[in-house]
Amino acid sequence: MKHFQSDFQAWGHAPRLIKAFSDEQGPVLERAFRYHHKTKVPAIVLLAKLFSKLPEGLRGASQLSILVIGAGSFPSYRAVLAALMHECPKLKSVEFVLVEPVEVLTQIFLKHFSKFKSSQFSINIKIDYREAQVFLQQEKQAQFDIVYFEHPEVMVLPILLAKIGWQRYQICRALRESLPAVLNVIKPTGWIVASCMSKHEMKQLQSLLYFSGHPRASLFSVSRLRHFLYGGPFTSGLCCPARPLDLSLEQNYQERALGIKKSDHHLCYAIMLSFIFYIIFCFHVGPGVRAISVFFMLAQLYLHCPGKKGTIIKIGLLLCQVALV
Ligand SMILES: C[S@@+](CC[C@H](N)C(=O)[O-])C[C@H]1O[C@@H](n2cnc3c(N)ncnc32)[C@H](O)[C@@H]1O
Repeated sequence: MKHFQSDFQAWGHAPRLIKAFSDEQGPVLERAFRYHHKTKVPAIVLLAKLFSKLPEGLRGASQLSILVIGAGSFPSYRAVLAALMHECPKLKSVEFVLVEPVEVLTQIFLKHFSKFKSSQFSINIKIDYREAQVFLQQEKQAQFDIVYFEHPEVMVLPILLAKIGWQRYQICRALRESLPAVLNVIKPTGWIVASCMSKHEMKQLQSLLYFSGHPRASLFSVSRLRHFLYGGPFTSGLCCPARPLDLSLEQNYQERALGIKKSDHHLCYAIMLSFIFYIIFCFHVGPGVRAISVFFMLAQLYLHCPGKKGTIIKIGLLLCQVALV
């Protein structure tokens, strides 16, 4: 724990850095530094807990290759290094492959954050500007020991924003659909690690991974740290073996991706119907029932998941809403 505390103290100078760099590079960098600083300690604690769940084979490895999907400026990079140093004492070299289509974010990482080094192991960093979906489909060899997601934008609101035509969120929708293809690039012994902003984000990732073929029973989740409010930076995470027991799923990942696409589509219809019910209620029922109706609409967002379970939940919530009259 001492190690983590000294790490935190080393970041006490972050506000000064923010000011210095914001003069030089503008608000994007300022945001990145502020975020980097904010996520520092929870990310180290969370990641150390998650990496401690890795099997002995990976924790005792001398080499690791780690794929970071949707890396952005990779603000938890330093925390990942600290967790690896703590949990993998025999490690001699690490290769990071960052998949991130927004180049300006990776420039921030390269210029400022990638300078952190480990005294324990050598680090090699590669950056790939393809979208995750393209990368995962084109790189068909099993090459990574760990696939790491850091605040993956797989939450539900971006799906709706993408569906109403918001261009910026189209890649987030694509990211959800690319998850089944993770099996293309991960070794049979590989694991998936994710640090998430909230329990909602983690649950979404968990349900997408489960739908993609990962056995639910093997998923671990680390609950958010008590002293951070819900939705704080990197308060939840998961760590699970990447290879499902049923290897035939590897062949039909496109079918799985289509399943995710369809269920996201169905969510939009469910929300639309729920909203129409609410409008109708506005003319026929009192404020109490209207409030419960809004609750059912929000539940559609919160409980959204792919597959049959998701369809049953959506229909069930709509029926409950209708039953209010
Ligand atoms: C919420 S941000 C997180 C960035 C960074 N990991 C962090 O925590 O600050 C999600 C990142 O995923 C990237 N992203 C979204 N959809 C993607 C996709 N389909 N393929 C690859 N990256 C994607 C975005 O460009 C963005 O940088």
